[in-house]
Amino acid sequence: MTNGDVAANDARTTAHPLLVVEQVVAGYSAADEVLKGIDLRVETGEIVAILGPNGAGKSTLVKTLAGLIAPSRGSILLDGRPIAGRAPREISRAGVAYVPQEQNIFPTMSVRENLEMGGFLDPRNSARRIEQAFTRFPMLARRRRVQARALSGGERQVLAMAMALMVDPTLLLLDEPSAGLSPIAAQRLFDDIVAIHRGGVSIAMVEQNAHEALTIADRAYILVDGRNHRDGAAAALAADPDIRRVFLGG
Ligand SMILES: Nc1ncnc2c1ncn2[C@@H]1O[C@H](COP(=O)(O)OP(=O)(O)O)[C@@H](O)[C@H]1O
Ligand SMILES: [Mg+2]
Repeated sequence: MTNGDVAANDARTTAHPLLVVEQVVAGYSAADEVLKGIDLRVETGEIVAILGPNGAGKSTLVKTLAGLIAPSRGSILLDGRPIAGRAPREISRAGVAYVPQEQNIFPTMSVRENLEMGGFLDPRNSARRIEQAFTRFPMLARRRRVQARALSGGERQVLAMAMALMVDPTLLLLDEPSAGLSPIAAQRLFDDIVAIHRGGVSIAMVEQNAHEALTIADRAYILVDGRNHRDGAAAALAADPDIRRVFLGG
């Protein structure tokens, strides 16, 4: 039995996968079919990596999942309920948090104020969640009064994830969290992502750093030109000679 068969069986026997994306077509006014019919699934408890060359549509896909782009066709089900085309704050309330690749913090606000911004949809629980963030990421507690622009690249990414976690999501969407980081800073960030996952959050993450992403992911999807190219268990993809040659540098 292949991994695909295992996944298909799970889909039949569990109530609902956390996220099911089917044949999603989406894009921008200038280019309305960037995604040309994407399928993707995230089971509760998984880390799913979304890989592929520049321009493949990875960011467009996570923006669509977060509600920033309304798909023109296809369906997106969260816990069995349709969310395609809903407003970002509704999708956030439904349990999906999104960390954009860029401009994901407020540079002139303090670390603590950034966390407050992350919790603005649910202000009553904000103070408690900020304390949780400080416990989980002691670096943020130490630097709570510092302007976010004073943080290192890796620390900013931690802050951006902590802001996203302020809504207590079931699914965290990350767009290239390790982009621009040194190998050591990237490794630390991947460790933080694993810790967030262990805390009970399912994760779908876009990564250029395919080798590292496949190391921590359960499954992965490779997109090429707005279409599904390959998918499967992360370990199997990491060991696949074609994938190694094209995406992992041999
Ligand atoms: N705001 C936009 N308006 C028009 N086209 C866009 C916009 N953003 C991205 N695109 C195009 O959509 C395609 C996929 O982009 P993107 O999703 O950012 O790819 P990836 O994240 O995989 O590098 C590219 O051809 C890109 O030029
Ligand atoms: Mg991108």
